[in-house]
Amino acid sequence: MKREPLNIGVMGSGRGSNCQSLIDAIAAGRLNARIACVIADVPDAFILERARKHGIPAFYLDPAPFKTKLDGVAETRYIETLRAHGVQAVALAGFMRIVKNGLLAAFPQRVLNIHPALLPAFPGMDAWKQALDYGAKVAGCTVHFVDAGTDTGPIILQRAVPVREDDTSATLHARIQEQEHLAYPEALQALAEGRLSVQGRRVIIQAPGA
Ligand code: GAR
Repeated sequence: MKREPLNIGVMGSGRGSNCQSLIDAIAAGRLNARIACVIADVPDAFILERARKHGIPAFYLDPAPFKTKLDGVAETRYIETLRAHGVQAVALAGFMRIVKNGLLAAFPQRVLNIHPALLPAFPGMDAWKQALDYGAKVAGCTVHFVDAGTDTGPIILQRAVPVREDDTSATLHARIQEQEHLAYPEALQALAEGRLSVQGRRVIIQAPGA
């Protein structure tokens, strides 16, 4: 029996290339989901334009009064919008703000994030640059469930990217993003098919059709 598509709410702050990879994966039949809405905390974030181009409801929601976290009245506004669009899972896609317990409690075990490093190495901002500056030979990306910490939630999947001698911050980030665009749809498809289970810190992914 075919499952209903998973209703995803995407939250971002920037270019939205990861959101685009989800839109493309859905169109290609690789991701059984529907993007119910896109929310940005930056008024002119390109992610909003991408969403509107595809007929997806897209909103800038004022994140005030906090600078680095989503909390208080803003958090309530975000939760209400996600609920009003029937969202079942939230995909943070370049959302540059820490989400707090209110949102996590509204969507328990259903808030995911993509991070541009192989966690637990290099949490926080500009992670690919941190890896380059540190001299790491392997970088990558991580899709994980979000918990109350910063980039600390249970890891769903990771993809590695070798660091080249001549890499700049821009070239390394671009190659990491290629892997992000494969990893995020794959992780969300496993969620959509009910193939993810969390056992302590470990996320078990059942094989498709198993
Ligand atoms: C992505 O590389 C994502 O991993 C990163 O922001 C970029 C957003 O790109 N997220 C973080 O650093 C979160 N800590 P996009 O807007 O093109 O999807």
